[in-house]
Amino acid sequence: MSIPRVLPHLEGRKAHVVGIANDQSIAWGCAKWLRALGADIAVTYLNEKAKKFVQPLADELDAKIFLPMNVSEPGQMEAVFEHIGKEWGQLDVLVHSIAFSPKEALCGRVVDVAREGFASTMDVSCWSFIRMAHLAEPLMKKGGTMFTMTYYGSQMVVKNYNIMGVAKAALESAVRYIAAELGPKGIRVHAISPGPLATRAASGIPEFDELLAKAQEAAPARALVSIDDVGAATAFLALDAAKLITGETMYIDGGYHIID
Ligand SMILES: NC(=O)c1ccc[n+]([C@@H]2O[C@H](COP(=O)([O-])OP(=O)(O)OC[C@H]3O[C@@H](n4cnc5c(N)ncnc54)[C@H](O)[C@@H]3O)[C@@H](O)[C@H]2O)c1
Repeated sequence: MSIPRVLPHLEGRKAHVVGIANDQSIAWGCAKWLRALGADIAVTYLNEKAKKFVQPLADELDAKIFLPMNVSEPGQMEAVFEHIGKEWGQLDVLVHSIAFSPKEALCGRVVDVAREGFASTMDVSCWSFIRMAHLAEPLMKKGGTMFTMTYYGSQMVVKNYNIMGVAKAALESAVRYIAAELGPKGIRVHAISPGPLATRAASGIPEFDELLAKAQEAAPARALVSIDDVGAATAFLALDAAKLITGETMYIDGGYHIID
């Protein structure tokens, strides 16, 4: 094979990014890098309260599709994907970067979790990805790539991660099943597993600063990851150049996960 003359890019591709709350959000890092490689971006925001924080970022991305989407509100996911279908007629990239657990569920022991707290944690943090994959499948007519965000607390017992670790384990498993199911259609599915980042969602985890310090100290790279590190690696996996990589849990954590 001769040396490729065209650099890999996402020009003309359509990407839907879910989970931008502010300019610290992992979803914002992903959206920036997908845009930088040429993709058109659709942005959704949680609700009216969140809109004013997300709007300037959507403008920066030149997002032509900007809609509310609370995955707990019946019909909202369906409405957004229908809109994307009408407007674009296709979807190439989906980034699911949301999670939620009620305080009493997240901050307690897994063994004590109540049914309702468990159900809402799983609903927003896991099932919403399964449903989005279902809604995106018919739009990914020429194949595509789906991403969701996970964390190492799915694999190992990480102090204070609690029930979210259980939800992330289910999410990573869902990624593998969906990757197997949609692979024949040219659709790849990945879980991205960043090291700890000081975002709004992370502020709900007790003693998060200690987690950051431990990550920095123990990771082979001796560095904390940034949302740009996560965005760049995610955008790489969306390229045609990565077309035979699927079903991965991709760690972007300076190598922390390989250390005992
Ligand atoms: N921050 C970290 O250390 C870290 C590490 C690994 C994985 N993650 C994962 O990354 C993802 C993004 O989190 P983040 O750290 O960027 O924080 P963030 O607070 O910036 O983003 C979380 C997003 O979830 C959205 N959300 C919550 N409930 C929702 C609902 N019902 N409907 C629609 N959206 C809803 C929020 O609006 C927000 O945009 C999450 O899945 C999180 O578990 C975070």
